[in-house]
Amino acid sequence: MAYKHFEFIEKHAGLLAVLTAIMVSLGGLAEITPLFMEAHSVKAAPGVQPYDPLRLIGKDVYVANGCYLCHSQMIRALRFETERYGHYSTAEESVYDRPFQWGSKRTGPDLARVGGKYSDEWQRLHLMDPRQVVPQSNMPGYPWLAHNKIDAADVQARMRTLRKLGDPYTDAQIAAAPAAVKDKTEMDALIAYLQGLGIDNEPRPTASKTASASEAPGASGATP
Ligand code: HEC
Repeated sequence: MAYKHFEFIEKHAGLLAVLTAIMVSLGGLAEITPLFMEAHSVKAAPGVQPYDPLRLIGKDVYVANGCYLCHSQMIRALRFETERYGHYSTAEESVYDRPFQWGSKRTGPDLARVGGKYSDEWQRLHLMDPRQVVPQSNMPGYPWLAHNKIDAADVQARMRTLRKLGDPYTDAQIAAAPAAVKDKTEMDALIAYLQGLGIDNEPRPTASKTASASEAPGASGATP
């Protein structure tokens, strides 16, 4: 009778703990191992390119200044999210993000598709002092970024490193990088990065953002 064994196990706490740990580990492995295998097979979505030099620096400015502490870049496949922010995020969009910026902390809004939502000038004013454009904002200002120049040699070094990791930068692109960041500030780079979010990499199975919201898996209603 199988239950007799269960009774024996349940009456011996040490054995119960060991067997529970084994079962939980097996369950964990079954869930995690396939994801590890898959991670290597994720390919860039059509239209997703490695960051151009200015946006690459912008992304690093974003990380260095801790923007991710208040902003996520991952739209969940839930109707209220897709209606507010646009198409839900996919792994294929983030293949060139090192480190990825998905996050879950949202003191401010999700930024995954903020590109093109405002003008460059709005972004500049907002980053200098957010309360100039959003009076009730509690986001800090980052005025010093407007004074920090970009080091061209540094951009090339970053691109070469990313190429070693598999990003398809060409020699010509690396050679052209210094010209692309000449006389630019970290502020310019950050704005270029923000204005690209969700623009170059948004999956486009449907024509418009409003149409795409209704095909999220979480969306209710008549989906074919
Ligand atoms: C202390 C938390 C905090 C930090 C850190 C922070 N933000 Fe924000 N951010 C907010 C809040 C709150 C809002 C909403 C109010 C507003 O628009 O200012 C916001 C709004 C924004 C918006 C407008 C989004 C929209 O859809 O309207 C952008 C763009 C933005 N932040 C970029 C940044 C960048 C870039 C950084 C890093 C340099 C940053 N934020 C750092 C809290 C933060």
